[in-house]
Amino acid sequence: GENGHDRIDYVFKVVVIGDSAVGKTQLLSRFAKNEFRFDSKSTIGVEFQTRTVSIAGRVIKAQIWDTAGQERYRAVTSAYYRGALGAMLVYDITKRQSFDHLAKWVEELRAHANHSIVIMLIGNKADLAGDMRAVPMENAVDFAQDQGLFFSETSALSGDNVDAAFLRLLEEIY
Ligand code: GTP
Repeated sequence: GENGHDRIDYVFKVVVIGDSAVGKTQLLSRFAKNEFRFDSKSTIGVEFQTRTVSIAGRVIKAQIWDTAGQERYRAVTSAYYRGALGAMLVYDITKRQSFDHLAKWVEELRAHANHSIVIMLIGNKADLAGDMRAVPMENAVDFAQDQGLFFSETSALSGDNVDAAFLRLLEEIY
């Protein structure tokens, strides 16, 4: 185009998965629009947002898919994972259960996604660390190492590490 900003070299599909209420939609809004919505509702079905970034001089459009963590609202998994090059696997550092369910999510990824998919484990709500922390960081580091995942704690609320985590994932895909 005439302003030179609409050249896209690659489109990378990334899926965001994890239990309900861990903050998947908020992470996506933070990365795509730098927004945090205090009136956020549970996702029903599938939505996606995009953000264009440049990596190594290439223009990469990240197409990031968000689906419901609640079983009853989940869309057909194979369609959701089709063509995905990356996955953000999210748990809530204040909800042990969301961490204990990670193995189930990894199993679903291994069953439905491309075997070369790059996976970033995300411990979200890091702004609540301290009294409310229910998952020690070492547990997540161990799990990530066992499963061959990248790992970061983030806060969609404060924005801490959100861009860095998404950019790291996109760089690893590239
Ligand atoms: P489903 O759509 O049901 O799968 O949930 P979700 O994983 O998309 O969670 P969502 O983004 O809707 O966030 C769930 C709740 O956690 C909301 O009340 C958010 O405001 C809150 N939340 C999300 N991220 C953070 C965060 O980083 N810190 C804090 N303190 N709260 C957060």
